[in-house]
Amino acid sequence: MAKYVVLLGSPGAGKGTQADILTKETGLAHISTGDLFREHIAQKTELGILAQSLMDKGEFVPDDLTIAMVKERISRADCEQGVILDGFPRNPVQADATKLMLNAMGSSVSVVPYIIVPEDVLIQRLSGRWTCRNSGHVYHTMFSPPEKEGICDLCGAELYQRVDDTVETVKKRLRIYMERTSPLIDYYRKQGKLVEIEGDQPIDSVTKDLLATLKK
Ligand code: AP5
Repeated sequence: MAKYVVLLGSPGAGKGTQADILTKETGLAHISTGDLFREHIAQKTELGILAQSLMDKGEFVPDDLTIAMVKERISRADCEQGVILDGFPRNPVQADATKLMLNAMGSSVSVVPYIIVPEDVLIQRLSGRWTCRNSGHVYHTMFSPPEKEGICDLCGAELYQRVDDTVETVKKRLRIYMERTSPLIDYYRKQGKLVEIEGDQPIDSVTKDLLATLKK
């Protein structure tokens, strides 16, 4: 039976880092709405132009556009065994849409690991994050540096810092997360799907806890 995992956590909690590893370990597909928007931005599509103006300020892309994008992505063949959703759903409207989307596929959300990290650590993580322009692989100047500064270990492409990772925009993203996304903690706890994961530990320890949760 297909497995649908919603990775919940603040900006910088490690959702993308862990989703990449879990995808390799489990064979589930990885859908990151942030990454999908960044692809649209790189391709300069109509959606990308709109998304960039909002993302640079740390604001959400409208629900209808985001939901339609996920609906199309999740219908593709590589999602048949299941999916790790990263950055989606991000508010109760998107959570209700996820439920409808999966119900229509004869399924439902399987489990919601909630990665918990203190705010001062989140700011430190996001201000030291570097991302590969080509592979999207994520590094950190202190916690997971590339072998050669500014160069991706996997493909040799250039690393860049995200525009929305300035301290001011990070603080705004954390505020918006508290206001709009944190209600999903109770939303999924009430459904008995939420599992709390200690996120302030080394990357491989977080992975171990997540894999144990996914196996249950
Ligand atoms: P998105 O790209 O989803 O950003 P986010 O949710 O804010 O999450 P991040 O990517 O910042 O953090 P992460 O948890 O993935 O952390 P990471 O693994 O990189 O969204 C960006 C924007 O797009 C939004 O602001 C919004 O505008 C728009 N958007 C996206 N989805 C949307 C939606 N559904 N609806 C509307 N708008 C939407 O790790 C961070 C750093 O920490 C890295 O450097 C990493 O190396 C390091 N690190 C990770 N884990 C550890 C660890 N255990 N120990 C030490 N360092 C670690």
